[in-house]
Amino acid sequence: MEQAPKEKKQRILSGIQPSGTPSLGNYIGAMRNWKLLEDQYDCLYMIADLHAITVRQEPAKLRAQSIQLLALLLAIGLDPEKNVLFFQSHVPQHAQIGWLLNCYTYMGEMSRMTQFKDKSAKHADNINCGLFTYPILMAGDILLYQANLVPVGHDQTQHLEICRDIATRVNGVYGNVFTVPEGYYPKVGARVMSLQEPTRKMSKSDPDDCFISILDTPDAIRRKYRRAVTDSDAEIRFDPAAKPGVSNLLSILCALTGEPMDALVERLSGKGYGELKSAVTEATVETLSPIQARFNQVMGDKAYLESVYRTGAQRAGILAERTLAKLMKKIGFIAK
Ligand code: TRP
Repeated sequence: MEQAPKEKKQRILSGIQPSGTPSLGNYIGAMRNWKLLEDQYDCLYMIADLHAITVRQEPAKLRAQSIQLLALLLAIGLDPEKNVLFFQSHVPQHAQIGWLLNCYTYMGEMSRMTQFKDKSAKHADNINCGLFTYPILMAGDILLYQANLVPVGHDQTQHLEICRDIATRVNGVYGNVFTVPEGYYPKVGARVMSLQEPTRKMSKSDPDDCFISILDTPDAIRRKYRRAVTDSDAEIRFDPAAKPGVSNLLSILCALTGEPMDALVERLSGKGYGELKSAVTEATVETLSPIQARFNQVMGDKAYLESVYRTGAQRAGILAERTLAKLMKKIGFIAK
């Protein structure tokens, strides 16, 4: 039988930090879209544990959250054969390229990073150099794999821009070393906001009642939505500027059920906020329960988890070494 010529798939790389359990916002905005990419692209997903230590981590907790995150990636349905799933710290080339790229990045460029300014204000007692140079490590993560596309949230746009600048600069000096990556922003996908401060993005590093975690129990989910900030005019309408809390609940509900916003608003018009909150609670529990069931199953199978991350590191390592060796040769190091 004649086969269609195999086109080389575009490569995707993304990273997620093992700092706390991912939130519903991470799931809706990022993780669930990853599953949709696995056939069309050549995908690598990295648990960015090296990035996590830019803020102080308790060792046992870091370990637990890292393995949990791997289990969650499997629980949302990512196939470990189709996707390379790995821990960043298992592929030493990340740290190595990080140093090299430090020498091709200017202090001035780093100083403009808004996330550094935010994070150093938040962690004033530990403004370490890693926190400052973190975008360089991230650039290395992407460039090592010659990724074409990088799915990230808008909070990472500036980091992706610097990655492109570094890649272009290195290519300018040494010829073609790196693929210059593009951001990949899913067409659909609501921006999920904090339940307590709905003008800010939902973040897993905020206080517990601000976000739904993927592993929250139905009771916790119900309680958090019940306490979610709304407003006092008792009208269900999608208007993020005037009614950020209600609009956030509406967009979560739409994102989870796939119902168009107009239809949803019409269906709920004249109803109370209590009803909206029960609907969004129900949709959330329904989405998360099967994921949690798979998560528990995977967490119970340590041998399987080990085989996934070992294979992942091996596959990632081969690709990473290829790029690192090429760069080192171009720079002028003596080959081993
Ligand atoms: N910096 C990203 C975040 O905090 C995580 C990350 C690390 C990443 N390395 C990456 C994302 C490479 C995309 C590509 O969300």
